[in-house]
Amino acid sequence: MRKVPTNSFYTHTGKLLRDALAFKNKGGRGSDILAFEEAFAEYIGVERAFLVGSGTSALYIILKALMRFSNKTEVVLPAYTVPTLTLAIAKAGLKTRLAEIDINTFNLDPQRFSDVISKKDTLAVVPVHMFGFPMELSEICKSSAKEGFYVVEDCAQAPGAKISGRRVGGESGVGFFSMCKGKIISAFRGGIITADNKEIALEIEKEISSMPTPGRLFDLNLFVALFLINYATIPSIYGPLFKLISLFKSTEVHERFEPSLASPFAARLGLTQLEAIDTQLKRRTENAMALYKALEKIDGVGLPNIIEGASPAFNHLPVMIQDNEMLSALTKILFKRGIDTARMYERPIHKIYDLQYPDLPDPFPKATELSEGLMVLPVHPGVTKRDLGIIIETFKEIFC
Ligand SMILES: Cc1ncc(COP(=O)(O)O)c(C=O)c1O
Repeated sequence: MRKVPTNSFYTHTGKLLRDALAFKNKGGRGSDILAFEEAFAEYIGVERAFLVGSGTSALYIILKALMRFSNKTEVVLPAYTVPTLTLAIAKAGLKTRLAEIDINTFNLDPQRFSDVISKKDTLAVVPVHMFGFPMELSEICKSSAKEGFYVVEDCAQAPGAKISGRRVGGESGVGFFSMCKGKIISAFRGGIITADNKEIALEIEKEISSMPTPGRLFDLNLFVALFLINYATIPSIYGPLFKLISLFKSTEVHERFEPSLASPFAARLGLTQLEAIDTQLKRRTENAMALYKALEKIDGVGLPNIIEGASPAFNHLPVMIQDNEMLSALTKILFKRGIDTARMYERPIHKIYDLQYPDLPDPFPKATELSEGLMVLPVHPGVTKRDLGIIIETFKEIFC
């Protein structure tokens, strides 16, 4: 039976083959990487972009660069985000401090992050444009000028998202994106750093030049993985082979992290997808807004506010269902009807890693509430009008 996965992948097998055939990995950070970096920097509207091995590596490299300017030791993250960011912080020899989120936006609470800022210790704050919903950075940027910390924008899920007409990733001087599987621009693994500050860009370049670029074996593995995933995410294949495909889905919590760079093949894949990003975002926005408009009227379903002047880049549509029984009923029924959903980060960071926070009282109750009730719905270009209808009708049946 046909089943829509939560993520679609890449564009077409034909284009994947074209990129693979056209491509020669001559080793090093050759012209393919530079071409992608230039195109991405232009797309975001920043001075420089750097292709690296993952979003987590991007944060690590940025922090190492910032440590050349300052000997402060703490990095502030929202308590609800991808947990592995703490591993990048620890690998850089720094300490993670968590801050509470705003349950209305699913992003860092601009009123609360100052609780954990210290002039003496805070090296950087990492606001996340969670699920591609842009967050307002003016409050944090104002405070950064006053308190002397850096703002590193996490745009992992938000390539192409805009706020006040500007694409996210350039407002604070330095930011990063992820190209891991399931992201809007994806090369199975990969990350991009954006820098609008010349001095920081220079230090990032130095960090990158001390790391090895992956070689041909990496590319061969990448090609095979992409080729398989490309087919595995077609609804008419994903459904019948669901049990087999599930064996390859990773749900483990990572304990270790090694920073890496990306290969020139990943850069070619990125370039091909960048050419198509506007069409891709348009389809995602149409799908997501059809769901958003229908679901926002339903009591018991929480959606993140789209703040004034913002256009999200919809990686998925996140919804929060407070009632646990309803959440599990919804998941099961949607699955039976051919729609796969996912729980993202079922626990907040302080309940995954031991960061020396007490169990009780919960120091970040909003982050816990969000992670316990969060479900993501597919909105990628493979989602049809019929699929959207099924999702909306199922929500109505359960909640109305
Ligand atoms: C919000 C956010 N930040 C950072 C990352 C880390 O990116 P990567 O998986 O490429 O290391 C992710 C990836 O899922 C993410 O969603």
